Amino acid sequence: MTDRLHTIVDHIAVKPNDSTEFRALKQRLALASLTAQFTLSTEQLRAMAYYFLHEMHEGLAGRPSTLAMLPSYVYRADTVSAHGVYYALDLGGTNFRVIRMVLEKGVLVTTDTIQDVIPQQHVKGTAEGLFGFIAALVETFFEGKGAADLAHARKTNSRIALGFTFSFPVTQSAVNAGKLNKWTKEFTTSGVVGENVVKLLQAALLKRNLPIDCVALCNDTVGTLIARFFKESTVEMGVILGTGANACYWERSAAVTKDHAVRNEGERETVINMEFGNFDSAHLHCLPVTEFDNAIEAASDSKGQRFEKMISGKYLGEISRQVLVKLGAKGVLPSDVAKKLATPYGFTSKDSGLISADRLPGLCFTQNLLKERYGITLTDINDLYTVKVVCVLVRSRAAQLAAMAISATLLKAEKTGNATVAVDGSVYEKTPSFRTIMATNIRRILGEESDVRLVLQRDGSGLGAGYIAALTAATSNKK
Ligand code: BGC
Repeated sequence: MTDRLHTIVDHIAVKPNDSTEFRALKQRLALASLTAQFTLSTEQLRAMAYYFLHEMHEGLAGRPSTLAMLPSYVYRADTVSAHGVYYALDLGGTNFRVIRMVLEKGVLVTTDTIQDVIPQQHVKGTAEGLFGFIAALVETFFEGKGAADLAHARKTNSRIALGFTFSFPVTQSAVNAGKLNKWTKEFTTSGVVGENVVKLLQAALLKRNLPIDCVALCNDTVGTLIARFFKESTVEMGVILGTGANACYWERSAAVTKDHAVRNEGERETVINMEFGNFDSAHLHCLPVTEFDNAIEAASDSKGQRFEKMISGKYLGEISRQVLVKLGAKGVLPSDVAKKLATPYGFTSKDSGLISADRLPGLCFTQNLLKERYGITLTDINDLYTVKVVCVLVRSRAAQLAAMAISATLLKAEKTGNATVAVDGSVYEKTPSFRTIMATNIRRILGEESDVRLVLQRDGSGLGAGYIAALTAATSNKK
């Protein structure tokens, strides 16, 4: 029954001579069909969570798995030793940031930052262009807010220590070295896959004659976990739900059987970057993919990453757009909707999030937004409601899937009772209902007795690299 309900939407077409009532009825039927496609039962989520656990085990052992389970070379340590001035660079999906941090015995005293949008020409350009852009913004910082640090380093012939958050799948061989496995989030920059990104960064900084040492490289999830760890040592996971999506968690080093150096650390805890965006991408055993998800995959420059394509900000607007275009083509929505939203990626995740949160009478926020941003005039409340429900469904599915991944990880870590999960990223932060849906679904999956706290760790991805740089410096000073 359910499967047939999924496909009813394919058989609905609104005819010009349909009465208003009949048209409204067909709209409701289309929405019921989409609801069936985009809503997951607790049983489905639990089954997926068990498969997720399976993939975690396989990944840690180095057997084929859709979860890379990458060691970070960051170990649980005493935060009080983090002391001094550190820099952090944050290259994520949309923006690049330079941050200066002053730490006093593990406490963050001040921060200064500048940021810029990563130009499209570098997202799809060359390594030289991208790392040149990074080094240029670093230099800008040292010409302004960081001038005194630079002058001091030059005078004393010392080096400035920096942590680099590079938010892509990287296989690390040390805390400050790692090769890019593949690009995600539609990046295609040439000359980076297979290269040590720290070397590329150092070479670009050297060209500008900057006395900087990149002492730590980390994923943004790891940065988020460590940033929270400095406030709350019991935090279990770091999660990013932004342009991209991913999570990391504390694991016993001994469980990382594929990496001898890590395994030999025994019971000491280390952070594992799961790269969950790629979950179930090889066989689609359990992901509830729709025709819309398949269309996104077919046109994507980042093949695989099927889980990420269902939950991250890079894609949520695009999924909604595809559904709306289909409804427009079928007459379930005015055909103008299909025409005005014809451009791929032309409907942003931000707007779909705002629409999904519209509670104004007559959905007048949605009405104005569609008019102002997309030139779409909708006057019928049923049409506006249909647009809103599409955006809500796409977001809710994302929140349910994110909840599944978090629940599975907490099951693996045996921390389903009282656990704190640090989350950063625009998708999580900017849509209030996202958090609520996640929390509700985690409780459904893990049981009412579970007590999982989702906390927003703003700027975690950037600050975390600085904290890790500070911890690394403290450890090497001790040696
Ligand atoms: C990357 C991850 C990253 C996530 C969030 C994904 O596309 O593969 O490394 O953590 O985006 O930025």
